[in-house]
Amino acid sequence: MTELHEVVAQREFAYSRRDFDRVRRLLFERAGIRLADSKDAMVYSRLARRLRILKLTRFKDYLAMVAHNHQEQEHFVNALTTNLTSFFREPHHFEALSTYLKQHPNTKRIWCSASSTGEEPYSIAMTVASVFGTFTPPVSIVATDIDSRVLQKAAAGIYSASGIEQLPPHYREQFFYKGKGAQLGKVRVADELRRMVQFETLNLMSPTWDIESPIDIIFCRNVMIYFDRDTQRKILFRMVKLMTPEGMYVAGHSENFTMYPELVRPMGKTIYRPVN
Ligand SMILES: C[S@@+](CC[C@H](N)C(=O)[O-])C[C@H]1O[C@@H](n2cnc3c(N)ncnc32)[C@H](O)[C@@H]1O
Repeated sequence: MTELHEVVAQREFAYSRRDFDRVRRLLFERAGIRLADSKDAMVYSRLARRLRILKLTRFKDYLAMVAHNHQEQEHFVNALTTNLTSFFREPHHFEALSTYLKQHPNTKRIWCSASSTGEEPYSIAMTVASVFGTFTPPVSIVATDIDSRVLQKAAAGIYSASGIEQLPPHYREQFFYKGKGAQLGKVRVADELRRMVQFETLNLMSPTWDIESPIDIIFCRNVMIYFDRDTQRKILFRMVKLMTPEGMYVAGHSENFTMYPELVRPMGKTIYRPVN
């Protein structure tokens, strides 16, 4: 009789359910991000690289280190954030931005609050530059994210050429340099456009935000979905307090705040006006 053996894939590092739960707790405390039960394999693969670099063999030891080491906390959060983004993602928001700027030529400040690798704030900058017809408009754009690694990529402004294929040709020509030689297949954001965006690290969970106000427009897209209801309301409340009464708050496609009429009122598809 043939004996059946269950084949269990041997993992490189010791990783238990308790470790996963600890990761979830630490990530929630540090970044407000709630990880679903189903994410345990993702956690393993994203953090394994850190254990390898640190020459550790057990997640338990790694997590003890994260609890006390500020620098490692940054790597920990960087490894676990989801940074998916693209140029002109949800294009109707940029049409709304263009209309808003034409109707409110006195707009002074735009905050892109979870900017990831930069495609979103540069899309904002392209829209602003197009409306004002200059690379030095009277509008400042601040782009922030918790993840220092994505902000480095954003500041460098180098992307795969395929990422801008869907842009109108005059945008590609006006706002990007084409890579040559070793940089073939890449594009770089034009220096004038890069200078329009100021990148800073900012954790939306921090009790204070180092950000100038009043702010006319806040882009806060596809980040609130990672937070629980209570955290979402707190962040929305704080953002609304920073905004001009005529301002515009832009949310992600699956983020809905109609249940907070005391804070915001809908003024378009996933776009809100602050109540303050
Ligand atoms: C899915 S990306 C969205 C990027 C962009 N807003 C968009 O819609 O294309 C989510 C971003 O939120 C950032 N993030 C997660 N938690 C954060 C926090 N507590 N404070 C600030 N940014 C955070 C992540 O680092 C990531 O870059």
